[in-house]
Amino acid sequence: MLECDTTNIRSLANYLSRNKSDLCRKDFLLDFVGKIGERKNFIKLMMGILNNPSLVKEIAANSYNHNNDFDKIVIISERPKYELRVHLWGQKSGGSIPALHHNHSWNLASVIILGYLHFQTYNFSEHGKSMHHYECGFKPGEKSYYFKHLGKDKIQSTGEMHLSAGSKYFLPEHTIHKIYESPQKGSVTLMLHGWTTRKISDIFSDAILSGVDDIPKKPFSENELRKRIENLIGSLRENSNG
Ligand SMILES: [Fe+2]
Repeated sequence: MLECDTTNIRSLANYLSRNKSDLCRKDFLLDFVGKIGERKNFIKLMMGILNNPSLVKEIAANSYNHNNDFDKIVIISERPKYELRVHLWGQKSGGSIPALHHNHSWNLASVIILGYLHFQTYNFSEHGKSMHHYECGFKPGEKSYYFKHLGKDKIQSTGEMHLSAGSKYFLPEHTIHKIYESPQKGSVTLMLHGWTTRKISDIFSDAILSGVDDIPKKPFSENELRKRIENLIGSLRENSNG
């Protein structure tokens, strides 16, 4: 049991802030997403957002289409300590760029709420495939991000993860990974990441990328966010009854 109301955003934020020293630990992160991702609680949490106009406004301002096949709904943002997000997969936008090999600057745990997620992990290896290596970071103010070409490096696959609804996983920072099959539209994951330990992450691509030196984040309007959460609650209820 978490010592907080798992269906209330403010209560969850207080709980995470009280336990900030645990926010890089695998067991803490996995336990948290497992509990919050339980179907009944998760529906209540989403309903709580819809019923609170100031939360809708706050969350919409931090949420956007990631240009990489998913909508990023940032439920609580307390960077550099942590961020709690819902990812709605299969949401291609006009400016989508292909799924790329990448790592992160924080440890993360995630639970599959609906649908599935398949990805592969990699490490640096002399025997690996030569890829274009980019540094990725936010521009000052975090309203847009950039990719900077660093040269070429070799990376090799170390394993595959096939996850369906109810499964959870932990991914340490620095672990290179790539979604290798685009999740079906309707796949949903809940993710908590811990302390940010560096300002940049690494991206790897088969080909040189163009138009990636200043990619704007376009926040959702309150209506756009409401629509997404209403659809999500509808899918969760449908799925519970099915
Ligand atoms: Fe990732």
